Amino acid sequence: MATNRQMMVMAGDGIGPEVMTATLKVVDWLAKHRSISFDISEGLVGGAAYDKSGSPLTDETLADAMAADAVLFGAVGGPEYDDLPFELKPERALLGLRKEMDLFANLRPALVFPPLVSASSLKPEIVSGLNIVIVRELTGGIYFAEPRGRDTDANGMVRAFDTNMYTPPEIERIGRVAFDLARKRDGAVMSVEKANVMHSGVLWREVMTALHAAEGEGVSLSHMYADNCAMQLVRNPRQFDVIVTDNLFGDLLSDCAAMLTGSLGMLPSASLGAIDETTGKRHALYEPVHGSAPDIAGQGLANPLAQVLSLAMLLRYSFDQGDDAELLERAVEKALDGELRTGDIMADGCTQTGTDGMIGAVLDSLDALAR
Ligand code: IPM
Ligand code: MG
Repeated sequence: MATNRQMMVMAGDGIGPEVMTATLKVVDWLAKHRSISFDISEGLVGGAAYDKSGSPLTDETLADAMAADAVLFGAVGGPEYDDLPFELKPERALLGLRKEMDLFANLRPALVFPPLVSASSLKPEIVSGLNIVIVRELTGGIYFAEPRGRDTDANGMVRAFDTNMYTPPEIERIGRVAFDLARKRDGAVMSVEKANVMHSGVLWREVMTALHAAEGEGVSLSHMYADNCAMQLVRNPRQFDVIVTDNLFGDLLSDCAAMLTGSLGMLPSASLGAIDETTGKRHALYEPVHGSAPDIAGQGLANPLAQVLSLAMLLRYSFDQGDDAELLERAVEKALDGELRTGDIMADGCTQTGTDGMIGAVLDSLDALAR
């Protein structure tokens, strides 16, 4: 049956295909029990695409992703691709999708589920109840700005360089996303840069301050240097609500925030483009933060929950189905209340399981919640 929901699935490499296969069982559950169905297309990406076609992202796959309402992405990369030239590395596919689809706003929620409080490397009293979102600028800064590359200076010395450049419109649009999100939460935005040493940081702070004066109603704005933010995240993470920062700092700080929640295996993310004024639609890609985890790939051990939570974000942000998103989130939490745990979140008194066991617990929880 044709639906008006076009979802493109890109499982990618490493544990990507395993956690995706598991998550598609949740998609089937939604079709069966909530009458939510998708037109699903699949595409190879990363190393898997390179193996087949010699490119980590073909034009065809990119065109399909642009045409879909939403992309559900697994993970890319693996040691077998380490020696490939820069432009052919699996990660280029992800960066290419972000850039070509103009997915400038990356939302990375870090939420501590009560049953996982003890899985965090920090003390329970520091992390319990933690609920923050990092809003990472995703299409600019040092990941993309020119000049970047490698050359030889006048003395014959090889040098390599990347540029952290931002313009006011790039800063404003990510600032707006952070303000809008904060309005639906506790209303506190922390803007993070290194204005003490970087020109791009000075501009970032100026533009955020001006944007707040003009459009920041209902939101408080504070500023913090990125190094201090890294420290504060492990010292007292609950002081934050929404953190907005550039591409590189967002990459670093979101891994740190992820670990506060107990495991990188729990964290979803949404990468969103601008809303098209005529169609009301936006490009969007949803992916777990964990990456391809080659060390455990192919063994059925991976935690599929970040991929399931990424599906929940897809329902919320691309299809405005907040209720169904919440149902999935509650099912994940209920599953964690049970005794089955994958290795990354294993705890005393629990039974270790793999990808299938964990997704089975989610499906059982969905059945129970839907009853
Ligand atoms: C992430 C990842 C990517 C990044 C890699 C895989 C290119 O670490 O999404 O955080 O650096 O952005
Ligand atoms: Mg990263």
